[in-house]
Amino acid sequence: MKNILYIKSSLQGEASYSTKLGNAIIEKIQLKYPGSIVDELDLVSADIPHLKPEVLRAMFAPEPDQAAISLSDTLVKQLFAADIIVIGAPLINFTIHSALKAWIDHITRAGVTFGYGENGPIGKVTGKKVYIAMSSGGVYSEGPGKTNDFVAPYLKAFLGFLGMTDLTVFRAEGLKVPGVKEQAMEKAVNSILID
Ligand SMILES: Cc1cc2nc3c(=O)[nH]c(=O)nc-3n(C[C@H](O)[C@H](O)[C@H](O)COP(=O)(O)O)c2cc1C
Repeated sequence: MKNILYIKSSLQGEASYSTKLGNAIIEKIQLKYPGSIVDELDLVSADIPHLKPEVLRAMFAPEPDQAAISLSDTLVKQLFAADIIVIGAPLINFTIHSALKAWIDHITRAGVTFGYGENGPIGKVTGKKVYIAMSSGGVYSEGPGKTNDFVAPYLKAFLGFLGMTDLTVFRAEGLKVPGVKEQAMEKAVNSILID
């Protein structure tokens, strides 16, 4: 049994492909770890705000303004409570949706989720398994689109910086490409491997 944090960031509600793929990942995790608890966080409907000056100040204040820091504290606590994190990541204008970026900004806390050692930064969010459910209109894992494949490398690099180095990406891609889109979801779901 595992604690799963399931993060969604689609603008398309139930029609979302990243959510469909994320749901399939959750199902397969449940098969491997029956009785797992899923804590769902829809960043778009929760309307996670951009990082504001008062929040940034509170992050570095010795005695922080509790009201300003409370959302960040809640999101960090929720993250630390998870054994497995599933992130629905639709491709929006070549990158992640800004709500997902806002979540990343709120969970990135010096001295809490990362620190500095003699040899540079040290991620403190360790021991987690992360699965990314990507969805995109085009194809970015190979071919001409690969030059613009920013989402998977960014999430790998940044979540790795915070200590989440065990990360696997599954892609539903080419969802708007005739001849590819017809098989895209089936291919994505079949690619899911829970290790
Ligand atoms: C505002 C917007 C921007 C998009 N930008 C891109 C893009 O840059 N590249 C791409 O391949 N698809 C793009 N798409 C298509 C989405 O990646 C595709 O619809 C995907 O299924 C969205 O994920 P979702 O179904 O989980 O919402 C965009 C879609 C929207 C609504």
